[in-house]
Amino acid sequence: MDLKLKDKVVLINGATGGLGRAVCFALKAEGAKIALSGRDPEKVAALATELDLGPDRLWTNIADVTVEEQVKAYVDGAIEHFGHIDIVLPNAGYEGKWEFNDQLTKENFDKVFSINVLGVMFMLKYGGAALAAQGSGSIVITSSIGGVVGSPGMAIYCASKHAVQGLMKSAARELGPKGVSVKSINPDGIYTPMLSRIGKNALGDSMTEEERLAALTAGTYDKRAATPEEVAYLILYYASPWAQHIYGSKVVIDGANGDGDTVRP
Ligand SMILES: NC(=O)c1ccc[n+]([C@@H]2O[C@H](COP(=O)([O-])OP(=O)(O)OC[C@H]3O[C@@H](n4cnc5c(N)ncnc54)[C@H](OP(=O)(O)O)[C@@H]3O)[C@@H](O)[C@H]2O)c1
Repeated sequence: MDLKLKDKVVLINGATGGLGRAVCFALKAEGAKIALSGRDPEKVAALATELDLGPDRLWTNIADVTVEEQVKAYVDGAIEHFGHIDIVLPNAGYEGKWEFNDQLTKENFDKVFSINVLGVMFMLKYGGAALAAQGSGSIVITSSIGGVVGSPGMAIYCASKHAVQGLMKSAARELGPKGVSVKSINPDGIYTPMLSRIGKNALGDSMTEEERLAALTAGTYDKRAATPEEVAYLILYYASPWAQHIYGSKVVIDGANGDGDTVRP
């Protein structure tokens, strides 16, 4: 299937993480032009080397998603480099500390909300404005099953991803009439460094990594997490012209481990 992404200019942040990397390589395979952003210059440089694309297909940026001016500069810089942008993928995220209800801290709340909510808000603000000004484009936010259901030990992360759903739905209604389709993908576990950290936080060091992953995914029908590649291609389809008629929706990809919209009551 041709996703019609050839030569589309795509912004993705959190590009140096497990999912972001997979999205970058999928975009390369589809012939898109990539404007990737990360907060760590060394990781960004290493990813750019691996992607091995010329300046006509790859532009890199350093930004902390919690700093508004840096996010604005990212969007402005991508437009300056490529002439325009087509797709914006707010993807950076942080799982937060493992805290049960009686342990919740403002420190954890502030950090998680600034990355997961403010970070997405700034990308919607500046990326959305640029796309609306040209009258076309799409935005696919990497949210989480935590934006649909709650999870013991991860209340703040889940609250932040529920907030992301509110940002997504409101932006979808504002930007849709201006030609911009806004939606989210909502995965449960994906095999990335984040899932490894969650496993350690939830289950401790007495189990092996393999045992932790098996425990975390025991509730899925296929007894596994999603691969970064299968989530990446979901994002690419959802961001592509094939999904332009979809506004304000989410897609849950969870092996039926969550609930809410999936097959479990
Ligand atoms: N893995 C899962 O099981 C899972 C499930 C559902 C949803 N998600 C969502 O998927 C997205 C990608 O996560 P992942 O699984 O790829 O995790 P990951 O490997 O930990 O990657 C997270 C990315 O976010 C970046 N980031 C964190 N704070 C940042 C900040 N202040 N400014 C700029 N970048 C920042 C990280 O940068 P560094 O590389 O410099 O650390 C990294 O590139 C997140 O939104 C996450 O919530 C993940």
